[in-house]
Amino acid sequence: MKAVLLRATGRPNVLGVSELPEPVPGAGEVRVRLAYASINYAEILSRKGLYAWAPQRPYILGMEGAGVIDEVGDGVDPTRVGSEVMVGTQYGCYAEKVVVPVERAIPAIESFTMEENAAFPVNYMTAWVALAELARVEKGDKLIVTAAAGGVGTAAVQLAAGLGCEVYGLVGSREKLDLVRSLGAREALSYRDSDCFERLRALSGGVDVVLETVGGSVFRESQSLLNPFGRIVVAGFAGLDLKRWNPLSWWRTWRDLPRAKVGDLAEASTGVMATHLGYLLDEPARLQAIFERLRAFVAEVGIKPVVGKIFPFEDVAEAHAFVESRASVGKVLLRHGRGPD
Ligand SMILES: NC(=O)c1ccc[n+]([C@@H]2O[C@H](COP(=O)([O-])OP(=O)(O)OC[C@H]3O[C@@H](n4cnc5c(N)ncnc54)[C@H](OP(=O)(O)O)[C@@H]3O)[C@@H](O)[C@H]2O)c1
Repeated sequence: MKAVLLRATGRPNVLGVSELPEPVPGAGEVRVRLAYASINYAEILSRKGLYAWAPQRPYILGMEGAGVIDEVGDGVDPTRVGSEVMVGTQYGCYAEKVVVPVERAIPAIESFTMEENAAFPVNYMTAWVALAELARVEKGDKLIVTAAAGGVGTAAVQLAAGLGCEVYGLVGSREKLDLVRSLGAREALSYRDSDCFERLRALSGGVDVVLETVGGSVFRESQSLLNPFGRIVVAGFAGLDLKRWNPLSWWRTWRDLPRAKVGDLAEASTGVMATHLGYLLDEPARLQAIFERLRAFVAEVGIKPVVGKIFPFEDVAEAHAFVESRASVGKVLLRHGRGPD
C-alpha cells in the first residue's frame, strides 16, 4: 500500500510516498481502507521534530481520516466490514490502509460526505472539549476564538455560535474575515492590525471565554480581555517557531509559550486551562460519551465541517507547505485515488 513513512524530520520535502506492506488487524482491531487522510497541525510539528506526543520514528504520519472497514480482527463483529467510519488515532493515517482498535473506528455521520467525516473528529472534539467540557460555556457568553479560520477555529466558531455565544473570531489575514463571519461570529478581526485588541475591547466590553491556539502576544492580549470569572483555554501554540540551531528562536519560544502567575489570576479572578485530546485516548469510555454529546449537538444545530482544500495523496509535501503558510482555511485533506468508491 502507499504510505508516508516519517524517517527524518525537516522541511515538507522530507515527506514522500513509499510502498509498504498492508497492516493486518489483530484481536479487537479493524482495518480501514481510507478515502481521505486529514492534515492536522500536530503533523506539521511532528514533521519538524517538535511534537512531544509523536511516537518513535520511523512511523506513518496521520492522526485522522475516513473510509471503509475492509477487515476485522478476532473478537470484532464481522458485519462491520463494509461500514463507513471516521478514524481518530495517534499515527498511521497517511496511508491507504490503517489498523486501529475497534473503538477508534467511529461510525460515519450519515448526513456528512466522506470528506466532511474526515474533517470532523479531531477539530470538533478539540473545540468541544475546550468549550463545553473545560470552559463550560453558556448561552450569552462572550467568546474569542483565535486562528478562527483554521481547522479547530472554524469548528469552535460554529459550535460556540450554535451554543448561543457571542463569538469574536481572530485571524492572521483579512482574506479570512468573511469566512469566520459566515460561520456565525458576531465579528472577525485580524491580529495583524495594530488596533485589533483595542477594537475588540470596544466591541465586546470584555469576554468570558477564549479558545487560544496561537500563543505569544495573541495569548497575552486575549487573556487581558477576560472579565472576572473568565477562562482562557489553551489548545495549541501554532505561533511558536522553535528552530533547533537558532538560540534566538529558543528565547522567542520561551517568551511566547503561554504561562500564567497564580497571583495575577487571583487578582483578576480568571482561570487558565489547557487541553490535549491525545491524553484522553486512554479514557475511551469518557471520550465516547463526549463524542455522543457532540454528535447529537452537531445534528441538532445542523453544523457541517469546512473542508478548505483537498490534495492528491502524492502531493503530501505541498499540502504540508500550504498549511504551514497560514493560507489554509478549515480542514485540508489528502485524497486517495479519485476519492470514495
Ligand atoms: N489540544 C489538542 O488536543 C489539539 C488538537 C488539534 C489541534 N490542536 C492545536 O490547535 C491549533 C490548530 O490546529 P489545526 O490543525 O486546526 O491547524 P490550523 O488552525 O488549520 O492551522 C494553524 C493556524 O494557526 C495560525 N498561526 C498563527 N501563527 C502561526 C505561525 N507562526 N505559523 C503557522 N500558523 C500560525 C494560522 O492562522 P492565522 O494565519 O489565521 O493566524 C494557521 O492557519 C494548532 O495549534 C494545533 O496544534 C490542539
